[in-house]
Amino acid sequence: MRINSDRLYAALEQLGQIGRYQDEETGLQGVCRLALSAEDGDGRRLVLSWMRQLALEVRIDRIGNVYARRAGRRNEMAPVVIGSHVDSVPTAGRFDGCLGVLGGLEIVRTLNEQKVETLRPIEVAFFTDEEGCRFGTDMLGSAVACGRLTLEYAYELRDRDGLRLRDELERIGFLGECDERVGPPHAYLECHVEQGPILYRKGVEVGVVSGVQSISWQALTIVGKSGHAGATPMDLRADAGVAASMINLKLREMIAGGQYGEMRATMGSLSPVPGLVNIVPGRVEATVDLRNPSNELMQKSEAALLAYYAEVEKAEKVEIRWRQTARTPAVAFSSRLQERIAAAAERGGLSHQSIIAGAGHDAQEFAAICPAAMVFCPGEYDGISHNPREFSTPKQCADGVNVLLDVLLQLADQEEL
Ligand code: GLV
Ligand code: MN
Ligand code: MN
Repeated sequence: MRINSDRLYAALEQLGQIGRYQDEETGLQGVCRLALSAEDGDGRRLVLSWMRQLALEVRIDRIGNVYARRAGRRNEMAPVVIGSHVDSVPTAGRFDGCLGVLGGLEIVRTLNEQKVETLRPIEVAFFTDEEGCRFGTDMLGSAVACGRLTLEYAYELRDRDGLRLRDELERIGFLGECDERVGPPHAYLECHVEQGPILYRKGVEVGVVSGVQSISWQALTIVGKSGHAGATPMDLRADAGVAASMINLKLREMIAGGQYGEMRATMGSLSPVPGLVNIVPGRVEATVDLRNPSNELMQKSEAALLAYYAEVEKAEKVEIRWRQTARTPAVAFSSRLQERIAAAAERGGLSHQSIIAGAGHDAQEFAAICPAAMVFCPGEYDGISHNPREFSTPKQCADGVNVLLDVLLQLADQEEL
């Protein structure tokens, strides 16, 4: 059994029309559907309409996660859940998250066409604010569903304009009434674009994801003293901009030193205040994003960074306030499911390899409550992502979803794993 690759791709393109904008850096058409924006609401409603066309039973929970259920022969049994997200970073392509959700719906369409019944129910789900770009915490909806974060914590998150997450959820019409805690599914599966260069460079068709690396996000407020750029003597300055630059360069130095393994680090947001040519920055709002496949080395790097903040405070006469906005450990996916994915790729005549996820994914939250696994599809142009250049071909997408279909059919007919 095979999905209809053209139909899947047409759905990806149609959803990609919502929130489209002209990207200045690339000159391409990008996608901006920030979590709980009007565009996210429109994208969600389109996907919801497809779920309803497929006669799925839809439920929306109190954090806005949406589940669409296809009945099995034994509906009291735990379902197999296929999920991902349809929110995007502000400078996205069409595939990140959407492939997993629309791939799930294409699988359901295929099963309906072929009149396939399964023992267990199947649910296709999308989760609120996976990206974390707007409210500061990634994998938010799935983390609440699986119990890592509370609903209260999530509701009180605010965006840069002070808008509260709960109010925004209500505003776009996705403040549901169902219990946000999900019962443990039989298994959770997610298909996603790799978002990196490994599969593309090797020409490998399917990635069998071994796990997800640890993520640590901080919001920094660096407080110095603003003053005249020409008239303030250098020794009287407390330049928050210089302090921020020191931290950014320190991150590179830590990576170059090699003692933190395969650490990655990014200061993705850096805003000097008042941010004018002839004023010493009196304040900088910034973020730090750390990634590491090793939990131990992640902790070591976090401690080293905090120690460095104290050095910068002294050297530059600034105050550094930091807040942890997201923190997830490295997660390993079910080895039995990885074996099934590799075997399904073999059966489909597809080359495959084991790969660790560079990005965070909803699957890592489900791994805490049930066997979970992911399939990666390669992306062109070194798998670039969080960029409008993000691009996977219809075949690249369909290969991953077909592997997922094969594994899903096995799991949905199982009494036990
Ligand atoms: C979220 O998906 C991230 O990895 O930043
Ligand atoms: Mn994603
Ligand atoms: Mn993303």
